[in-house]
Amino acid sequence: MSTAPKPDRSDTSELRERVTVSSVPVSQEGRVSVTRRLDIDPAWLDHLLLATCEMPVREGEAAVVECLVRACGEILGQAAVGACFALPALPGDEVGEQRIFKCLPPGEEARGVGVDPTRLFPGYAHERALTVESNGTTLHVASDDPTIEDDDAPVMHVVRRAALAMARGLSFARAHEKARADAENLRKLNDHMVQAEKLAVLGQLAAGVVHELNNPLTAIVAYTDWLLKRHENGDAADLERLTRIGESAARILRFTRDLVAYARPSSETPARVPIELVVERALAFCEHVLAAAGATVERRFEPGVHAVRGMPEQLAQVFVNLFTNACHALPAEGGVLRVAITGRDDVVVVTLDDNGHGIEPEHLGQIFAPFFTTKTDGRGTGLGLSIVKSIIDRHKGELFADRLSPGTRFTVILPRWE
Ligand SMILES: Nc1ncnc2c1ncn2[C@@H]1O[C@H](COP(=O)(O)OP(=O)(O)O)[C@@H](O)[C@H]1O
Ligand SMILES: [Mg+2]
Repeated sequence: MSTAPKPDRSDTSELRERVTVSSVPVSQEGRVSVTRRLDIDPAWLDHLLLATCEMPVREGEAAVVECLVRACGEILGQAAVGACFALPALPGDEVGEQRIFKCLPPGEEARGVGVDPTRLFPGYAHERALTVESNGTTLHVASDDPTIEDDDAPVMHVVRRAALAMARGLSFARAHEKARADAENLRKLNDHMVQAEKLAVLGQLAAGVVHELNNPLTAIVAYTDWLLKRHENGDAADLERLTRIGESAARILRFTRDLVAYARPSSETPARVPIELVVERALAFCEHVLAAAGATVERRFEPGVHAVRGMPEQLAQVFVNLFTNACHALPAEGGVLRVAITGRDDVVVVTLDDNGHGIEPEHLGQIFAPFFTTKTDGRGTGLGLSIVKSIIDRHKGELFADRLSPGTRFTVILPRWE
């Protein structure tokens, strides 16, 4: 193999040291533990040292491997150097992703195009591979120089050194990645706590505000109703003004009620709840809204479904909010609400489909956020779905919104009563 300028070996005694490494020749199974004298060109060692110092451990494992492979390629001149490197499996992955890094001598691009991990460079006559202990990385060096077959060839010493450096770099990179992930988790937890704190403050504030507002608002609604009835045949413009006053007050009342429900966790305790009874109660409660929307309700309740573990008042509120939203979205004619209840393993699934105007894809990620609403006509407070979400979370259940064509499906999954 014609490598970088041959080192002057006259004064390398201080570099001689004994190291133990594991070497795995290609096509040979099992590892051979060998003890060797190190006899390497100081220029190579310098270069390797530099590369080791420059290993970008902060940027992760792939960057570390890439850096060392590149450095080895530069040191070893005409040799080809490569590494097989398995990235750790992501959650849900069966196997880790395999990455292959190569560094070919200049003008050698056409050679060694194989991807067989046991032979990265099939274009070359000789190839040796070293497994980096405990990191599962295999470093390959290939050449047409027959000395590459010799475990004692200087190039193999360099490769071994590089492999050890890489192992260290990978450990650092992993530690870095873990530290970064931990810091990120901590940040999220912190955000969560800040949000929870804000909600607690909002809760206290809301309770106070609602308490103050409730009585005067109820009086305004009641007296406007009374005045409207009393002056049924009065001035049309005045009647219109009275109607507006009544509607506005009713809207504030609705908002304050939502705000309290959102901010004040209920003190109900979990019980055995037949979910179909809760759904029926919510439908009865929404009778007026359903009639106003001209909605047809279709029920598909699987017989003999288990009861759920839940808090009936809160669950009723979940379905009242979902039915109300669906009614608001329904077309003027032919609005259909389909409620299905099914049992699955240890959960009960309730789906609610409507054939309304649906949710814009870009809104899907926002609808559960407090105060998000697209209703500009005063019918919305933007709190309904966030209340629904927090109730379902309290039940350790799941909630999904999906687009149908046309319409929307909400899926509520609740743990069943043992
Ligand atoms: N069944 C549905 N069909 C279409 N859009 C919906 C439906 N349910 C919810 N949305 C959308 O989600 C938004 C948030 O709902 P919600 O939190 O209940 O607030 P609000 O009903 O007061 O606007 C609504 O403004 C609407 O844009
Ligand atoms: Mg709503």
